[in-house]
Amino acid sequence: MKWDGTSLELIDQRKLPHVEEYVKCQTSGCVADAIKKMIVRGAPAIGASAAFGYVLGAIENRKDLNVETMEKVKDKLANTRPTAVNLFWALERMHKRFLSAISENSDDNAIINVLNEEAERIANEDIQVNKQMGNLGQELLPEDATVITHCNAGALATVDYGTAVGVIHAALDHGKTIHAYVDETRPYLQGARLTAWELMKLGVDTTLICDNMAGWVMKTRKVDAIIVGADRIAANGDTANKIGTYSLASLAKKHGVKVYVAAPLSTIDTKIKSGSEIPIEERSHEEVTHVQGVKIAPDGVKVYNPAFDVTDAEMIDAIITEKGILRYPYTESIKKLFE
Ligand code: MRU
Repeated sequence: MKWDGTSLELIDQRKLPHVEEYVKCQTSGCVADAIKKMIVRGAPAIGASAAFGYVLGAIENRKDLNVETMEKVKDKLANTRPTAVNLFWALERMHKRFLSAISENSDDNAIINVLNEEAERIANEDIQVNKQMGNLGQELLPEDATVITHCNAGALATVDYGTAVGVIHAALDHGKTIHAYVDETRPYLQGARLTAWELMKLGVDTTLICDNMAGWVMKTRKVDAIIVGADRIAANGDTANKIGTYSLASLAKKHGVKVYVAAPLSTIDTKIKSGSEIPIEERSHEEVTHVQGVKIAPDGVKVYNPAFDVTDAEMIDAIITEKGILRYPYTESIKKLFE
C-alpha cells in the first residue's frame, strides 16, 4: 500500500498474480469498499488500510470535525469484514487518538496531522513487528525445512514482509533452505494466486497443492511444520484463520507435524475468552459455485461458505509474536504479553 497523506493506493489483490493494478482511494468510503470487496485483504493489511481510511474520513469532514462524524467514519470502516480483529484494533486506536486530539486542539489541520501520524505509525510498526516475528520464528525451522502454508500471510496481507511468510523470509535470510507447499486455499485461492506468487518472488522452492492434498503430502513426504497467520486469537490461544486451517492442523496432529501460528499482538483479542466467541464471516455462494467466474455447480444447490475456522489452542505447538514465542497452554503467557 502507498499513502501520500491524501490518498491510499492499494494493489488490487483480486487481479493478482496476472494483473498488477492499483486502486487509488481518496475517501473513507472507497477504503471501506476496498476492504469489503477484498481489493485489500489479510488481517494486518485491512487494519492499516482502515487507519488510513479514518484519516481520509477526517479530511472529508474537516469542516465538521466532531466526535459524531468520526464515529460514523469508524463504523463505516468497521462494518466491512467481521473476523480479523486488527481492523477494530486499528480503528479503536485511531478513534482514541482523535478523542484526545480534539480535547486538546481546536485546529482541524492540527488534528488531521495527528491522525496522519498515528496511521503512519500503525503502518510502520506493522513492518517492524513482522520482521521481529520473522527473526524469532525462523528459529523454529530446521536448516533444511519443508513447510506447508495456507491462505496468504505474506507482504500482501500486511503492510510489508508478512507474518507466516515473514518467518519463511527470515529463515532464508539466515541461510536456511526452505521448501514450501502452498495450499491453493479454496474458495478464494489466496494460496494459489498470492502466496505462490510471493514465495516464488522470494526465491523459495514452491510447490502448489490443492487443499485436499495436504494430508497425503504429510503422510508420504517429509513436512516439518505448518506455518500460518491468524485473523483473531482468543485469550486462551484458540485461533481463527482462513477456512481450512483447522483441517490442516488436524492432519498435522495425526502426522506428528508441528503447527505454528505467526501473529502480532494486534491480532490477539483478550476481550474474548475462547474461539467460540469469534464471529465467523460467511461469504457469497458464488465463491463456491464458481471458480474465477466460471460456474461449476448445478443451479439451486445449497451452499455454505464460512471464510474462517477456529483451530483449538491445544492443536497449536507455538504462537510466534513480536514479543516472543508462546507455547501451549497460552492463557497465562498471552495475559503476560499485555502487562
Ligand atoms: O479472507 P482473507 O484473505 O482476508 O483471510 C486472510 C487470512 O486468513 C490470513 O491468513 C490472515 O489474515 C493472516 S494475514 C497476515
